[in-house]
Amino acid sequence: MNSKEQDPLSSSPSSRWWSKNTVAIVTGANKGIGFSLVRRFAELGLTVVLTARDSARGLTAVDALMAQGLHVHFFRLDVSDPSSIQSFVSWFKERFGAIDILVNNAAVSFNDQNENSVEHADTVINTNFYGPKLLTEALLPLFRISPSGGRILNISSRLGLLNKLENPKIKEILEDQERLSEKQIENMITLFLEDVRQGTWKSRGWPKIWTDYAVSKLALNAYSKLLAKRYESCGLSVNCFCPGFTRTSMTGGKGTHTADDAAEVGARLALLPLQELPTGKFYIARSTLVCSKL
Ligand SMILES: NC(=O)c1ccc[n+]([C@@H]2O[C@H](COP(=O)([O-])OP(=O)(O)OC[C@H]3O[C@@H](n4cnc5c(N)ncnc54)[C@H](OP(=O)(O)O)[C@@H]3O)[C@@H](O)[C@H]2O)c1
Repeated sequence: MNSKEQDPLSSSPSSRWWSKNTVAIVTGANKGIGFSLVRRFAELGLTVVLTARDSARGLTAVDALMAQGLHVHFFRLDVSDPSSIQSFVSWFKERFGAIDILVNNAAVSFNDQNENSVEHADTVINTNFYGPKLLTEALLPLFRISPSGGRILNISSRLGLLNKLENPKIKEILEDQERLSEKQIENMITLFLEDVRQGTWKSRGWPKIWTDYAVSKLALNAYSKLLAKRYESCGLSVNCFCPGFTRTSMTGGKGTHTADDAAEVGARLALLPLQELPTGKFYIARSTLVCSKL
């Protein structure tokens, strides 16, 4: 799909297929876009599990929603910690049994607008790539596929699009949809972290802006594409969504629009009726929803 293709959100008025039995999980939801997504889902009547790595911050967010008359569930989840993922999934399985929508939203960046440091590359990769990957793998058996299809929305970034990568060998591997494997994606990550350790990362064709963050999203995009292909015939859709330059902590409060604006578009994408639901696509929120090549 390219940017000339139709905005899926403008094709027809979305029909409401969900109910309070529809269960959505959002990671990193104590603030920012994740919090706004939880609020939107709750306003629309879904059952929502708000997760956050810090219990106090998570519960404060739950209280804020409660004050607005919205009830959501909470469980602590640090996506960079495999044992936290395990505890969360055990609790979720016991409490709900099945999931309809997973939004992998939690992420970190240690860069600001004028700086490009890779000092925290391991944390960035663990949180932004391995976190969503491990959580998705643990939840896959719990996806309720019928009648409306299971949905995974990975909140990504256009900084991780393939056109930001100048290393021709890695680009070729990631572009080869037929042969792309998890091993290749993880090998790319290993290579990047090795370049960081060797101090050679600036000359190896990695993305130039917010490099470690961009590589984490590059890997997340590639993994999403692979998952989408693997589960297409099973009724599970996997898409990436870049919220655009949004005013949150991650951008130091700068941006062209609010977290609520971004979440409104993200929620509509996650809730498209089954017959209009894409898979394996990357969408950027602008004035309309633009689809880019992953
Ligand atoms: N804002 C933008 O312009 C922009 C643009 C493109 C993409 N995005 C993407 O949008 C998503 C949301 O970002 P945002 O702008 O809303 O940023 P944000 O306000 O900084 O929110 C990030 C959230 O992730 C949580 N988090 C961080 N590490 C975590 C971990 N290990 N486990 C669980 N949660 C963790 C944070 O929790 P704490 O409060 O505990 O730190 C926070 O709740 C991210 O995936 C980001 O990459 C944002």
